[in-house]
Amino acid sequence: MTDPATAPPSLQVSGLAYAYPDGHQALFGVDLTVARGERVALLGPNGAGKTTLVLHLNGILTAGAGTVTVAGLPVAKAHLAEIRRRVGIVFQDPDDQLFMPTVREDVAFGPAAAGIRGTELEERVRRALERVGMAEFADRPPHHLSFGQRRRVAVATVLAMEPEILVLDEPSSNLDPASRRELADILRSLEVTVLMVTHDLPYALELCPRSVVLSGGVIAADGGTQELLCDEKLMREHRLELPFGFDPRSVTVPVR
Ligand SMILES: Nc1ncnc2c1ncn2[C@@H]1O[C@H](COP(=O)(O)OP(=O)(O)OP(=O)(O)O)[C@@H](O)[C@H]1O
Ligand SMILES: [Mg+2]
Repeated sequence: MTDPATAPPSLQVSGLAYAYPDGHQALFGVDLTVARGERVALLGPNGAGKTTLVLHLNGILTAGAGTVTVAGLPVAKAHLAEIRRRVGIVFQDPDDQLFMPTVREDVAFGPAAAGIRGTELEERVRRALERVGMAEFADRPPHHLSFGQRRRVAVATVLAMEPEILVLDEPSSNLDPASRRELADILRSLEVTVLMVTHDLPYALELCPRSVVLSGGVIAADGGTQELLCDEKLMREHRLELPFGFDPRSVTVPVR
């Protein structure tokens, strides 16, 4: 085991710039370091580049300029298989993630591709589904489940990989309040680095001591979540709005 104190950061993004093939530039030099075990929220308005950044973390998109490394390993074609074991992404839309005939097969897919077999595989699948409260759905086809249930299965597919860093793109959207809280409990219980893209600012405050604001393809702020949410000018400038009646000052959060 590596000593967490000396381990390389789970994620290091340096000078990352990216233009889509149609010429639209979405990222203009992003720098972001996430230490091992940190939970960081990635905030920002629609179109800021959050999903584009996420798609670089396991090599779905490759940097136009700059670098991404995961626990010291550069995200590059040569080690994509290892990178995909280390980086678990829960996509914005669970239908981008679930494609097998049953929930069980979807959750087993990643670990099986990584060479895990037999009882160890079964055990991983069972544990991951139990964590998200979906064990009894193991034999159902994912496309028969509700959106929220599919999101929970999508989280299980990633937990089953036991990744170095868990990246979630708007994990709380479309979840009912109890499922939203249960997902928060799961995330808090994991000893894993988390990068969570969210428009749900109370969720960011509850779960992530640190937040980063991405706006117009650049990092506009990086600091304590409570501090950022209380900065009215910053919030206004980047179209970040708190829900009606929510006062971030009134919430007691764990120190950063
Ligand atoms: N496939 C694509 N081709 C061209 N431009 C794209 C493509 N996908 C996204 N973009 C553009 O890149 C920019 C960043 O998009 P991205 O999806 O990363 O934003 P986001 O921060 O995730 O937004 P949201 O909060 O709505 O999910 C936007 O201006 C978007 O229109
Ligand atoms: Mg997005």
